[in-house]
Amino acid sequence: MSLRRYHAARWDEPLIHQIGAPGRRGQHFPLADSTGLVPAGLQRTSPPDLPELSEPEVLNHFLRLSQETMGMIGVSLFGTCTMKYNPRVGEQAARRLAGVHPAQPAETMQGMLAAVHGLDLMLRSLSGMDRFTFQAAGGADAAWTQAVITRAFHAARGQRQQRTKIITSLQSHPCNPATAATAGFEVITLPLGENGYPSLDMLKAALGPDTAALMINNPDDMGVYNPEIMEWVRLVKQAGALAFYDHANFNGVMTKIRARDLGFDACMFMLHKTFGVSKGGGGPAVGAYGCTAELAPFMPGPLVVEDSGTYRLETPPQQAAKVREYLGNLQQVFKAYAWTQAMGAEGLAEASDLSVLLNNYMEKRLLTLRGVTRSHPEQTSPRLEMTRYSLGILFEDTGVSAVDVQNRMADFGIDAFWLSHEPWIVPQPFTPEAGEMWSREDIDYWIDVLAHVIDEAYRDPERVRSAPHNQVVAKLSDRDINDPANWATTWAAWQRKQG
Ligand SMILES: Cc1ncc(COP(=O)(O)O)c(C=O)c1O
Repeated sequence: MSLRRYHAARWDEPLIHQIGAPGRRGQHFPLADSTGLVPAGLQRTSPPDLPELSEPEVLNHFLRLSQETMGMIGVSLFGTCTMKYNPRVGEQAARRLAGVHPAQPAETMQGMLAAVHGLDLMLRSLSGMDRFTFQAAGGADAAWTQAVITRAFHAARGQRQQRTKIITSLQSHPCNPATAATAGFEVITLPLGENGYPSLDMLKAALGPDTAALMINNPDDMGVYNPEIMEWVRLVKQAGALAFYDHANFNGVMTKIRARDLGFDACMFMLHKTFGVSKGGGGPAVGAYGCTAELAPFMPGPLVVEDSGTYRLETPPQQAAKVREYLGNLQQVFKAYAWTQAMGAEGLAEASDLSVLLNNYMEKRLLTLRGVTRSHPEQTSPRLEMTRYSLGILFEDTGVSAVDVQNRMADFGIDAFWLSHEPWIVPQPFTPEAGEMWSREDIDYWIDVLAHVIDEAYRDPERVRSAPHNQVVAKLSDRDINDPANWATTWAAWQRKQG
């Protein structure tokens, strides 16, 4: 396949405060003091230092900035993040929230509460849990929800002083040990065994009357699925502890397994990953946290309750802690609701199948490339929706690192891949995740670009090391990013720094 020609736009775009002119306007609003709504004591005596521009000037400014973002324009196989297409229908659904204030009485926002409840029901059926909250603004926030519920649950049983430890594994997402530690638990991190996941013996050695919970993802950060997970959960429960399933990597097992059927007490899904909602610059996130009826009294309120077709809000009696305001990032809940409804049960199952099929297709081709190996190559069980690879051999042969390769791939309009969360167990790691949205041609193109860059690394390593060449910036120096003397996050701070 021939590689596409690509060059990012490069503008000398000033800050918005440096363009426009006094008196320019996009819209004319009545002066606040002429409405009589702002009490005299609260009125400004001098106008704010805001930029003054016409509407086209504003639009063109942001268009140019959007052309300099360095990414999200090509095939994006950002592993552990399950990048999905965010359909327009989701935006339409989210727009319905405009004009609704979360503090309105429940009877005036029945439609909104019905959608929240609808998504709650769908996630219940996908997980087997009894109740969901969408208050957490991301996966780490949902892990935090679990940590504080664990604390409250054991305290209610008089075991808080005794149960002081949370067990996790080396290839769990760092938010699991981090939230456990922040909630005051001691963290036991299990190392990996020969199959790529910790052995049952390691778990048994860590478990005891002082165990408060297990927090684990499966498949893990490397894409390795632990087939002994049911036995893990059984042992954890037998020790009187809680079992929490970090389901961030849900795509490959969606509709195939249910956290509750495996014995888990609670789980989380990322609406901004698996459920078609935008992430990062596309909008805020939601970590959907679900648990059993036994843990539900400790959930953060308010929760939506349905009584014969009417919806009301309820705060659980022993709420462990409030995680965010109101019901969370509701526009994202609406998008996920629209996406899940549009997919239907069959669509969800097909998406999961496709993600596993495409990953295994990719794996076959990637492992034919010089310098590419798989993590735990001796392990024969297939990876599900994602595989971690290593460019360690390429690095030894050429001095070209996984980051250099990533930068050079961006020259062909390919979005940067994911390397690995810390720690880097595999040398020069990279973790692409195909998901279900890309076609076979897209996946082939992505691999063709990688093959080209690897070939180039062996022929002309400096060309790869000095990449990107076709992007808006080549490389940011650490000095610019890390030294607060060189950056400012507000116009006022920038002006101060300029003297
Ligand atoms: C397995 C796993 N758990 C938790 C998280 C944290 O999610 P978030 O970035 O939404 O806080 C991630 C993010 O990549 C993850 O991969």
